[in-house]
Amino acid sequence: MRVTTAAINFKDATTPDRAVRIHTSAQATTEQISASATPQALSVQDVHVRFGGVAALAGASLAVQTGVICGLIGPNGAGKTTLFNCVSGLTAIDSGRIAIAGYRIDDLPAHARARLGVSRTFQNLGLYQEMSVLENVMLGGHAEIGGGLLAAALRLPGLARHERRVRERALMALDEIGIAAFADAIAGTLPYGTMKRVELARALMARPKLLLLDEPAGGLAHGEIEEFAELVRTLRHRYVLTIVLVEHHMKFVMALCDHVVVLHLGATLAQGRPDDVRHDPRVIAAYLGAAR
Ligand SMILES: Nc1ncnc2c1ncn2[C@@H]1O[C@H](COP(=O)(O)OP(=O)(O)O)[C@@H](O)[C@H]1O
Ligand SMILES: [Mg+2]
Repeated sequence: MRVTTAAINFKDATTPDRAVRIHTSAQATTEQISASATPQALSVQDVHVRFGGVAALAGASLAVQTGVICGLIGPNGAGKTTLFNCVSGLTAIDSGRIAIAGYRIDDLPAHARARLGVSRTFQNLGLYQEMSVLENVMLGGHAEIGGGLLAAALRLPGLARHERRVRERALMALDEIGIAAFADAIAGTLPYGTMKRVELARALMARPKLLLLDEPAGGLAHGEIEEFAELVRTLRHRYVLTIVLVEHHMKFVMALCDHVVVLHLGATLAQGRPDDVRHDPRVIAAYLGAAR
């Protein structure tokens, strides 16, 4: 059965009630929809990507239900970052299929995917080091400027209003992530763990529905990891997010994630509940043997 636009059950963080209503009315008009027919927030099917002689992805598949926190794990070079690049639109796939909320996105440009709610952070930080924290975070909200450069050139009054709103939202996001005190600091001068949080605040500014976090706990001290897991849980509820995160810190992944996917040599080795994945002999042999 074809699922209509109205059946997307991503909820807009700004108007959650409206999103729920849309979903309910869609269910009423498309009788066949059952709970199991709800489209997955993210579906990756048999994706292949080659870089010259290197097969970065060679049969990567995963299915993430809406509202879930999914851990994407695997040894270095397994293809985790490449998979994020394929979902967010930075890397084109050679074959396979990627869909969000039941809609195929693998031939859409990155900005169109961002508009559909795909937002991400980068393994090696994508911040402007010389700009302030607040300026970096505000950049995440600029995709929504309606008039764009033309409005800016004409100095339309709406633009100043928009700028003010983006600034207020950025300050709120910084506050929520616990780094409001650094708003005026130059991004490049901050500790790595704090810069990771700045990126997270910026990713939230795009009003994401699907948030991809590439090694977000990098640079955190041992004692900060549990606090960070709590922050991710809070953000999931507060912003009504589906989250996929890459992380090597196994305790963090197993305690935080509802679903875990293991990539190995570009292919999906296993996926399922954290406990099942942790005890899967193939996963232990390929990866967890050392990391557990
Ligand atoms: N732009 C690229 N050009 C060439 N090879 C790449 C590129 N990006 C990734 N690779 C290769 O693809 C494989 C998967 O890399 P990556 O996705 O970064 O793995 P992971 O994030 O799991 O550590 C590695 O062998 C890596 O060297
Ligand atoms: Mg990586």
